[in-house]
Amino acid sequence: MTLRVAILISGGGSNMVKLVESMSGDHPARPCLVLSNIAGAGGLDKADALGVETATVAHKNFATREAFEEALHARLEQSRPDIICLAGFMRILTAGFVSKWEGRMLNIHPSLLPKYQGLNTHQRAIDAGDSLHGCSIHEVTALLDDGPIWGQATVRVQKEDTAEVLANRVLVQEHKLYPEVLRKFAAAQQG
Ligand code: GRF
Repeated sequence: MTLRVAILISGGGSNMVKLVESMSGDHPARPCLVLSNIAGAGGLDKADALGVETATVAHKNFATREAFEEALHARLEQSRPDIICLAGFMRILTAGFVSKWEGRMLNIHPSLLPKYQGLNTHQRAIDAGDSLHGCSIHEVTALLDDGPIWGQATVRVQKEDTAEVLANRVLVQEHKLYPEVLRKFAAAQQG
């Protein structure tokens, strides 16, 4: 049975594009939805061009986080995903929402977890004088950036690196790692 994958984005969706492009041939999964919490996010046009159904559930249209997540959950359920991939999705999800999808939801975080949970990971690695940095794909649990890790990729930090230069070096690794991990995760879901 081919698994259905929903991908949540907030911006350009470069990771989403790599995930969608990877789900072909004998891959156990196919994309069923690309959903953004930001209306007009650049990734939505890219998903359209790739022939993937898109949706927007704009968090700013809701008075509370819970109301937003209720609408988000309802829209996701319409597409019946077996797996949810957070890919540049910049909203923190409450334990209530996560509990409905736990074990079926992945996130990409731009650090070598458990180092640097939260934001500004590249600058924090530079400020700490780290020689290695990178990205992690983990299962989403109620605790921020804290679930079981399914894969990591490392990059070397160069002396003259700015946060932007380092972020772009990490992004190249994200684009390789996330599709690899999704394939492994989907195969494991199939049992
Ligand atoms: C990436 O750097 C990723 O680490 C973070 O969101 C950024 C943008 O991702 N989660 P994308 O280009 O929207 O996929």
